[in-house]
Amino acid sequence: MVSQNYICRISESSLMPFLDLGKQPLGNGFVVESDFTHEYFYSMMVGFSPESKMVQLLNQPNPELMFHSEYAFYSSTSVTMAQHFSDFFSSVMNSPYLSKDDPFVIELGCNDGIMLKHFAKRGIKHLGIEPSINVAKVANENGVNTISEFFSSKLAGDILTNFGKADVFLAANVMCHIPHIKDVALAVSSILKKTGVLIFEDPYLGDVIEKTSYDQIYDEHVFLFSAHSVKYLFNLYGMDLIDVQWQKTHGGSMRYTISHSGEYPISDNVINLLEKEKKIGLDKSGTFDSFRVNVERSKFELTNLLKKLKSEGKRICGYGATSKSTTILNYCGIGKETIDYICDITPIKQGKFSPGMHIPILPHKTFIENPPDYALLFAWNHAEEIMAKEKNFTDSGGKWIVHVPEVKIL
Ligand code: TYD
Repeated sequence: MVSQNYICRISESSLMPFLDLGKQPLGNGFVVESDFTHEYFYSMMVGFSPESKMVQLLNQPNPELMFHSEYAFYSSTSVTMAQHFSDFFSSVMNSPYLSKDDPFVIELGCNDGIMLKHFAKRGIKHLGIEPSINVAKVANENGVNTISEFFSSKLAGDILTNFGKADVFLAANVMCHIPHIKDVALAVSSILKKTGVLIFEDPYLGDVIEKTSYDQIYDEHVFLFSAHSVKYLFNLYGMDLIDVQWQKTHGGSMRYTISHSGEYPISDNVINLLEKEKKIGLDKSGTFDSFRVNVERSKFELTNLLKKLKSEGKRICGYGATSKSTTILNYCGIGKETIDYICDITPIKQGKFSPGMHIPILPHKTFIENPPDYALLFAWNHAEEIMAKEKNFTDSGGKWIVHVPEVKIL
């Protein structure tokens, strides 16, 4: 692996590189044919900081390449996610953190307003911050007061002047996207009331390690958090991790609650999770070397299985043009000689081609009208919802391939 000295974005000490996933395009960078010759690629490598315990990309494309006016990800395409955010909203409403008097809720990366719209409907003062203009527009149309900018301590200053301090600052699948997260932590500490809290959730490192779900690693996910690394980060700004709650979304996520130090007791959940992380070695570099071996094995098994099926003349399609699938396809070198098409219900992705490997993305009706023998479930995190929806495919002999937690035919 590279001998260059990489620096941890949090502790500024040396990073230990442990995984090289090769040349990768943007995870959500769906292309049209005229883009094929000048598509953006970068070297996707991952490192661990023994000091901050943060797992992070060594290089990340410029955020403006990833979150822009044609950002292809709309949260509301999944029924399960819509329910999840409705439940998330209820848990905030029932928490002790919202003041009785004129509460104020901010959400960073509010996407199409999937969660904030519930606060908006109840007339609660709120503000969404969403850098991708197209999804921010949908949020505003959903009645969610949204500004389209990247969050920073400068923007926090403007919000303070115009709106005042917040009771709750929310973020779902956003914090792990932000390379300048130290500035965001500083900004959050300045924008929260004394009793205010930051509640955010992201894919959990413990699940990625346990399930070898290396497809959680792509350009947008500059960090993979654990309780150890989150605690380290926020301690730098006079804040404490006071609660954690595991979530089943995105194949295993963690919801972290953070307050100004000393404002609330630290829950047993935090103490227990820190202990568990030590047991499974999330604080030690050797764990990540074992992870690399598992990733290499997963690649070997998936490519061999697909090769075997093709040699038997089977037709294979992908199900769900996820960002995660970009990592799998490009790392494993799987293209349209193997996968005929990927079906996806997101209109903005349809008619385009998968980043890097250029597999056509087709609407869901293609899957119904022209079903394959095997469907490789790239949206494995929505398995329950998809299996229920595609009962006809399964009942008529269609087979599913999954690669998480191990490569197998269901
Ligand atoms: P997501 O789970 O957000 O994955 P990632 O973060 O890796 O992009 O995306 C799920 C994708 O799968 C999204 O493009 C919508 C698609 N999808 C379907 O096509 N059909 C479905 O039934 C569901 C639930 C998702």
